Amino acid sequence: MVNGLGRRLCNRASIPLNTYSALMRSKDRSGKIRASLPERSTTTMSAADSLETALADLEALEKRGLSAFGGAADADAIEAVRIEFLGQKQGQLKSAQERLKALEPSAKRVYGQRFNATKQALEAAHAEGKLRLASKGEVQGGIDVTLPGLLPRLGHRHPLTQTAAELIDIFGRFGFAVARGPEVEDIRHNFDALNIPASHPARDPLDNFYLSDSTMLRSQTSTVQIRVMENQPPPVRVIAIGRVYRPDTVDATHSFMFHQIEGLMVAKGVTMADLKTVLRLFARSYLGQDVKIRFRPSFFPFTEPSVEVDMLWHGGDRWVEMGGAGMVDPNVFRAVGYDPDEVSGFAFGLGIERLCMRRHGIDDIRLLYQNDVRFLSQF
Ligand code: FA5
Repeated sequence: MVNGLGRRLCNRASIPLNTYSALMRSKDRSGKIRASLPERSTTTMSAADSLETALADLEALEKRGLSAFGGAADADAIEAVRIEFLGQKQGQLKSAQERLKALEPSAKRVYGQRFNATKQALEAAHAEGKLRLASKGEVQGGIDVTLPGLLPRLGHRHPLTQTAAELIDIFGRFGFAVARGPEVEDIRHNFDALNIPASHPARDPLDNFYLSDSTMLRSQTSTVQIRVMENQPPPVRVIAIGRVYRPDTVDATHSFMFHQIEGLMVAKGVTMADLKTVLRLFARSYLGQDVKIRFRPSFFPFTEPSVEVDMLWHGGDRWVEMGGAGMVDPNVFRAVGYDPDEVSGFAFGLGIERLCMRRHGIDDIRLLYQNDVRFLSQF
């Protein structure tokens, strides 16, 4: 029986063989350890039996605990298992610890070691279970189809972009293609080729953003007229839309950066009547059939004759200046290699902010640049 017990105990991986050998030794009354196996006294037998039972119970407890922690499905369950097994007052491990008192001193050491191993195993299972549930929660949270979800906030195009798109659409129907030019321009395209002489006040450094002696931020989209005519022979029918820059004092109707739409039509026999027709058709398409349009004599170095274009609509009583226009000056044709005796043409340049503001009843140009969503969301 002793051998059998020894074999069974030594099969337990967690308890070393020599521990059980020591267990099988017993002390005499003088306290000396006897080298031989203990005698089969009733006391010794019952102590060994009770140790065996206690160790078996401990093992069973550990198995139950590990299985309970492993099966706990949520935080409440794992807490209940913790109280059941690791609870300080009435936990099963606490009861197992109590059994230590009833064991012989040599058995106590063995049982104590095994008890500690069980305790560590259960505590580790508790921690592991909590971790498992926490990470399970994260994964579930990521795919919880019952959550209301986050609605992406949808934006829309800026009112100036909307206006530009509408202008492209309207002029597209009149047969105008879209041309583009750079915002950083050279002096030739911004002034020289547009028949603006070196002495002209429009070149004043105080009225322009010069970047160097030969480059500047373009002050008008009329620069694109030159670039288009330099690159293609007549006939021409284009619009150009883009930003222009002028050091104007900012107020409700002026900005140092704004947008213009330029129009250019060149062919044999183009007249002022064509210019007026195109602009009137445009005004009606954009502002409504009741729009009135008027042309005031003006001056631009690159058109002759030149006009200011005013519009009045919805029965209003105030004419609004939309831009300048005129017949392309012969000097401009010469600058780009066109023969003014062969072709004629008209050009116009309108402020896009003004068109947009009049159309939507916006009374301050600065609102268009502040990017305040409360304002922008109205369009
Ligand atoms: C010109 O810029 C000429 N290039 C137009 C032109 C083209 C005439 C082709 C003849 C042939 P003007 O400087 O007047 O013109 O500007 C045209 C329009 O731009 C103005 O009527 C106005 O609507 C707008 N504009 C001018 N300055 C500002 C500013 N500081 N802020 C906002 N809009 C402006």
